[in-house]
Amino acid sequence: MIIVGVYFILYQSIMENNIPCRAKVLVVGGGGREHAIVDALSRSSRVEKIYCAPGNAGIARQAKCVPLEDTQIDELADFAGQEGIDLTVVGPEISLAAGIVDEFESRGLKIFGPSKAAARIESSKDYAKSLMAKYNVPTAAYRTFSDYGEALAYVNAGKLPVVLKYDGLAAGKGVVVAETLEQADEALKDMLLDDKFGHGRVVVEEFLTGPEFSLLCFVNGSEVEPMVLAQDHKRAFDGDEGPNTGGMGAYTPLPFITEKDEVYALEHVMKPIASGMVSEGIPFKGVLYGGLMKTPDGIKVIEFNCRFGDPETEVVLPRLESDIFEIFWNVANDIPMPVTKWSSDAVMGFVMASKGYPGSYKKGYEITGMDEVLNDPSVRVYHMGTSLKKLGEGHEAFDKAGHSLVTNGGRVLMVLASAPDLKSAHDKALSAVERIGCENLFHRTDIGHWAL
Ligand code: AMP
Ligand code: GLY
Repeated sequence: MIIVGVYFILYQSIMENNIPCRAKVLVVGGGGREHAIVDALSRSSRVEKIYCAPGNAGIARQAKCVPLEDTQIDELADFAGQEGIDLTVVGPEISLAAGIVDEFESRGLKIFGPSKAAARIESSKDYAKSLMAKYNVPTAAYRTFSDYGEALAYVNAGKLPVVLKYDGLAAGKGVVVAETLEQADEALKDMLLDDKFGHGRVVVEEFLTGPEFSLLCFVNGSEVEPMVLAQDHKRAFDGDEGPNTGGMGAYTPLPFITEKDEVYALEHVMKPIASGMVSEGIPFKGVLYGGLMKTPDGIKVIEFNCRFGDPETEVVLPRLESDIFEIFWNVANDIPMPVTKWSSDAVMGFVMASKGYPGSYKKGYEITGMDEVLNDPSVRVYHMGTSLKKLGEGHEAFDKAGHSLVTNGGRVLMVLASAPDLKSAHDKALSAVERIGCENLFHRTDIGHWAL
């Protein structure tokens, strides 16, 4: 009997690529994207325990939060080693660009995400552009400058508007679309003379027009498995007005992107970049995010990111019907990925942000009504910037210890709903947003206007 049992376990592990059945997973990050990843992992039959570092108040309902920041790479690796974590999944680009994957792998720890070298596809605009040029991937015409005078002369001789991109991570603030020469000059001064973000190089790029969309793919070397398409809304206010933010809402699917467009984007953008990176000796493993635009001249790349998009992930992952742990595990172990299955649902999400965001804002305002909106199983709330606080008598408790939920960031909550069509998803999510109480939050009401 024992021998049969041992053989059975052996057989199972060989057949299933040693994939654990009761895995302990660590998710690095603490925003809405990581909440969506934790939620997707919690649906896996193979995952027994989820940790999240640092996590947030919402994530704490589904995972054990670990008080480590996404930049504490050595401490995160120590924790994964000591705790016997089977697999770590990384959300933020900052951890990837700092080499978290290289550090974990050097210690023999399994991790899902690209190496520091592969993460340059996001952390260096110039590297991404040169890869696209080399592998014939359609994108805006460009030139890279480190000299302010030369950059200005080039801009003066060219057309307006013009797009200026700082060549490095700049927390979403490194891109300026200049409508006038004065604006371009000011941005070039910031990026090259004052060097606001670090060392100075700038990509000067042709301005393109058309609807933007995001194609996220699981990538394992030259293998590319697409997720469903989504669109983000970057501006703060309705009508796409106001300053650029980290994203005020997202939805999927996108009726204005045809199946032919999708195939084109996969075959002419995502796959050539993935196999190009293999040829360069820098295989990409993780999620490759294509920020694409459907221009009058066809689909072109606006940017690549080396990770799950935020807030796209929050609407995309609820449609994933496959086991996400299996995908992460296979990529981390160099095993071919399973083909993914997706539901036909529409999912739409609205971000509730602190008044003043993306500028300065205050934190610590009480949020109420959360459990009431979650009574509807088609509504989800992913926490982007929340924490817990003892407010005492007369306040709504969010955790078992009686703490209340309070705002703790610029973007605070992403409230989303699934429905058979986008209009119903829109109405249902918006009605949930309106039932959440907080005196210091604002939201857009026109998420999905491109599609509705
Ligand atoms: P990125 O950080 O590269 O995504 O750029 C931020 C935003 O700037 C994009 O989402 C676009 O809306 C806009 N943008 C970037 N590059 C271009 C371009 N070549 N033409 C028009 N808009 C652009
Ligand atoms: N949604 C844009 C990003 O994740 O960078």
